[in-house]
Amino acid sequence: MTLGVGSYFNAITLQRLAHRLYKRHVPVLPKLIDLLIFLIFNSTFRHTAEIGKGTVASHRGMSCGVHAHAKIGERVFIGIHALVGGRAQDFGAPLIEDDVFIGMNAVVLCGRVGKGAIIGASSLVLDDVPAGAVVAGNPARLIRTTDQPWWARPKKELDTLAHDNGAGARAATEAPVSDG
Ligand SMILES: CC(C)(COP(=O)(O)OP(=O)(O)OC[C@H]1O[C@@H](n2cnc3c(N)ncnc32)[C@H](O)[C@@H]1OP(=O)(O)O)[C@@H](O)C(=O)NCCC(=O)NCCS
Repeated sequence: MTLGVGSYFNAITLQRLAHRLYKRHVPVLPKLIDLLIFLIFNSTFRHTAEIGKGTVASHRGMSCGVHAHAKIGERVFIGIHALVGGRAQDFGAPLIEDDVFIGMNAVVLCGRVGKGAIIGASSLVLDDVPAGAVVAGNPARLIRTTDQPWWARPKKELDTLAHDNGAGARAATEAPVSDG
């Protein structure tokens, strides 16, 4: 399977590089990459956040905000202008489990989003989201449930979503790669 250049040059790829350097105690560089991500993509994907393999952001990760200590699982989709943030100073960092879909403009301020959940576009999520829930609105409410991960949808539908049509997420289920 081949992924295009656009698949690699994005905010998350840069964040992964910064995270690896940070884990290896390389000084300064991780923070410089944070700055580069901000300048190029207008996003904050800080090097201290944990982002699982196969996780993608639409529009190369443009205009997103991710809590510095967020834990984002594998094969998560992050829509343009999405925010995964801290609700208050002492609220702690959010945990986004595997296969979650975060729609564009969504603001996720809860503690945990369960595996495979879908968050609708422009939703404000204040309460924890159970696995497989589809929530939407302000404040977000349950509208249905799903057992199909976002990346398993037909390729035609995915064309308008992830820059790699979900290929990275599908690949992450097939061939485990070490994130170091
Ligand atoms: C949440 C979502 C997946 C629901 O899709 P769906 O299951 O087909 O739901 P429907 O369109 O049948 O809508 C069901 C109900 O939820 C409401 N709803 C759907 N999406 C909503 C949203 N984002 N915000 C508020 N309400 C929403 C609908 O108005 C409808 O309400 P009703 O029953 O009172 O009429 C979809 O609307 C969505 O937001 N997708 C994300 C798109 C996106 O962000 N793409 C990424 C681009 S980078």
